[in-house]
Amino acid sequence: MKHTILLAFALVLVGCAAAPDVNETANYCHKQIVRTLSDISGKEGEPRNILAGEHSWNMRPNVPEEWCNGFWPGVLWYDYLLGHKDMEAPARRYTAPLESLATQPIFDHDLGFLVITSMLNGYRATGDPIYRAELLMCADSLATLYNPAVGTILSWPRNVQMFGGHNTIMDNMLNLELLLWAAHETGNEALADIAVSHADTTMAYQFRPDATCYHVAVYDPATGRHLYNCTHQGLADESVWARGQAWAIYGYTMVYRYTRQPRFLDMAQRATDVYLSRLPEDMIPYWDFCDPRIATTPDEVFGASPTICPRDASAGAVVASALLELRNYVDKSKSETYRQAAEQMVQSLSTRYAAGEQCPALLLHSTGHHPAGSEIDAAIIYADYYFMEALYRLKTNKIIL
Ligand code: GLY
Repeated sequence: MKHTILLAFALVLVGCAAAPDVNETANYCHKQIVRTLSDISGKEGEPRNILAGEHSWNMRPNVPEEWCNGFWPGVLWYDYLLGHKDMEAPARRYTAPLESLATQPIFDHDLGFLVITSMLNGYRATGDPIYRAELLMCADSLATLYNPAVGTILSWPRNVQMFGGHNTIMDNMLNLELLLWAAHETGNEALADIAVSHADTTMAYQFRPDATCYHVAVYDPATGRHLYNCTHQGLADESVWARGQAWAIYGYTMVYRYTRQPRFLDMAQRATDVYLSRLPEDMIPYWDFCDPRIATTPDEVFGASPTICPRDASAGAVVASALLELRNYVDKSKSETYRQAAEQMVQSLSTRYAAGEQCPALLLHSTGHHPAGSEIDAAIIYADYYFMEALYRLKTNKIIL
């Protein structure tokens, strides 16, 4: 009942919401980015999070298993692309440690996140041929995780025993961009075939009939048989983890950009429509759509407790950015719905979720790994990254291939 009322309220809000002031928001972001540069000056590694009550970034070392290390250089590249040319030097400086991934053994599927956000954005921004060469090496490396019997990339090699098979997580959809970009760049269709097979197999096994998704699918690595689905970061196997659904929306939209296959566009829309239908009034999801605490959480309250359900601003930012792409591929009326929804998400994030004076992040109130008790109601660097990407898309109406 609460959802029905909230959805009606949300749709009214979306229908009449003022568009966000993109220039003002981009100025706010630039100020926070400059603050971060000062906050992390002299610290080793890349910024990862600022936990509830903290005021300064926690850093992560430059090792292949730190999946979030590309997002901060990516924030800097988007600030550069939004007109702050003096950000090139710090963007290059924080991208540099990621370049060694091109010649190191692959740790897991997150190689894509690491280099798309940093080096691919750096290449798009500058045309630097060294980034290009390193990215192509990384794409070949990512392709080694593909299992042709299953038809997907193995997401977590270290967890094969734990899951009892070849595991593929919805987040992995975003890493297909590295393969699709490399195929587009070089004409190596084998890489595109792997990406398409992964997207098709995931579409066949990892969604429910209502287009909500499972976080993890497990397959027999020898026969390719689908064994079962489960969650790793959601509330329960049958719940709807908000960021997992966000990865599905973004992933299928991006795969459609490169392949123009209507089935991927259809999947992106169905995943989006169910997500939009379940949002609270400010258009930013709670961390899992099935958390029973949603019913006892007043709309204006943030935090986490036995009765307060934490939000996930990062999922909100991922979907805002994705919808600003998806709106370009759909009919006029749907395009308008997605544009309005995305603008309302950006408006909400830049008002209700902005970190402001509290700390140098752009956004508060993301949730990383709730079942592990990690990064709950925190500022997390990937929320900032997708927020910057959404702003870039809103301001320029450009999606870079
Ligand atoms: N890719 C891991 C996460 O979304 O938390």
